[in-house]
Amino acid sequence: MASLDKSFVTDSVWKPDLFKGKVVFVTGGAGTICRVQTEAMVLLGADAVILGRNVAKTEKAAAEIASLRPGAKVLGLGNVDVREIDSLAQAVATTVSKLGRIDFVIAGAAGNFLSDFNHLSSNAFKSVISIDLLGSFNTVKACFSELRKNKGAVIFVSATLHYYGVPFQSHVGAAKAGVDALSNALAVELGPLGIRCNCIAPGGIEGTEGMSRLMPETGHGASKVPLARWGTTRDISEATVYLFSPAASYVTGSIQVVDGGFWHIGNFM
Ligand code: HXC
Repeated sequence: MASLDKSFVTDSVWKPDLFKGKVVFVTGGAGTICRVQTEAMVLLGADAVILGRNVAKTEKAAAEIASLRPGAKVLGLGNVDVREIDSLAQAVATTVSKLGRIDFVIAGAAGNFLSDFNHLSSNAFKSVISIDLLGSFNTVKACFSELRKNKGAVIFVSATLHYYGVPFQSHVGAAKAGVDALSNALAVELGPLGIRCNCIAPGGIEGTEGMSRLMPETGHGASKVPLARWGTTRDISEATVYLFSPAASYVTGSIQVVDGGFWHIGNFM
C-alpha cells in the first residue's frame, strides 16, 4: 500500500505541479524510505522509475505509486542489481525510451544486517560496500549523460552512524562514509555541469526495515530523541522535495540530516 496520499499535495507547502514533466530514477524504490520519496515526487507531478532485484515486489510497488495521481507514469524494473553497471545502463535505456528523460536520481539501494566484527566475513563486508557504495557510484555513472543533458540532481541516501562508532555496523558505517565522500566529490566535480549532489541522512524512521531490524537491539525509545519522536517517511519525503526543488538551486555537497537531532546527543546506545 502507498504511504502518502493527496494530503501531501493539499496540506503541504509544495506546489502541486512542482515536478511536472520531470522524471525521477530511484534505486531501492520498492523499499520503504525510497518508495515514499518516490510517492512524494509523483504526487507533485513527476513520472518515475523504481529499480529493485525482486521483480514482483518492484512491479507491484510501481503500480501502487502510479495510482496516487491520475496520469502518472511509474515503471517498476526488477532484476536490477546496482552492483552491476550493465544492469543499471539497461534500466537507464529503458527509462529514456519509455519516459523520455531522467532529471533526478535517488541512489537509495542499501543492504544491512547487524554483525559483530568477529563474525563479519570478508564477503559480507564486501557485499554491503558493493551495494551501498559501489551501487551509488554505478547509479550516477549510468545516469550521467541524462543528468548532464538535463542539469539534474542526485540525492544519496546516507546515514548518521559513521559520525561516531556504532558496534555491529562497521560494514554499513564504512559504506555510508564512502557515500558521503562520493557525494561531496561529485558535487564539486559536476557542479560546473549544473548537476547538484546532496545526501539525506535519516535517523530512526518508523515503519522501516532499518528501524525494525536495527533499533530494537539498542533498546531505547524515542524519549532520547531531542524532538521527542521517531521520524516518519514523510519527514524524509519533505527533505527530498526540498533538495530537488528550485528552492535548493544553490545547495550542493550538503548532507541533510533528518533525525530529530538524535545523533547530536552522542550516546547512541
Ligand atoms: C552476518 C551475513 C548476514 C548476517 C548475510 N551475511 N547476512 N553475515 N550476519 N545477518 C553474509 C553472508 O553470509 C555472505 O557472506 C555475505 O553476507 C553475502 O550474503 P548474500 O546473502 O550472499 O548476499 P546478497 O544476497 O547479495 O545479500 C546482500 C545482503 C542482504 C546485504 C547480505 O542483507 C540484502 O540483500 N539486503 C537488502 C535488503 C536490506 O538489507 N535492506 C535493509 C536496508 S536498511 P559469506 O562469507 O557467507 O559468503 C538500511 C538502513 C541503514 O540500510 C541505516 C542504518 C541506521
